[in-house]
Amino acid sequence: MRVDYHALTQSIVALTAGETDEIALMATLACEIHHSDDRFDWTGFYRVTAPGLLKIGPYQGGHGCLVIPFDKGVCGAAARSETTQLVPDVNAFPGHIACASSTRSELVIPVFAARGLIGVLDIDSDRPDAFDAEDAKALETILASVFSDL
Ligand code: SME
Repeated sequence: MRVDYHALTQSIVALTAGETDEIALMATLACEIHHSDDRFDWTGFYRVTAPGLLKIGPYQGGHGCLVIPFDKGVCGAAARSETTQLVPDVNAFPGHIACASSTRSELVIPVFAARGLIGVLDIDSDRPDAFDAEDAKALETILASVFSDL
């Protein structure tokens, strides 16, 4: 099954209407996004909990590493640069952190609230080259609609 981003956006908007708690929102998005597409084998958030530091937030899938400094991994690169990281082959990404050895490709998108960067959304796939620019753009739009005014 491939995600229908229009339908996913509609259900996320309906489910999160009026909610302002970041953890409640992240938990709901992790669940909705994870189950929307067979390519998504791990879906979750890392939160900025101290300057230069990400800690695990709500997620779906196998266990995730608990702590990622901004100078480590794909998540750290997304947080540090505040730009989306689309990685078709994680083995070719210097410093990639392998939480699951089955992961082959990864998409990490920075999450912004009104006060600035609050974390990243990380989606891992066991398929090589699983993600494209449409995924990045649609998920960036969903994240902005949910978090940007908080
Ligand atoms: N692979 C990520 C780490 C997080 S896990 O995959 C859940 C990275 O390199 O930042």
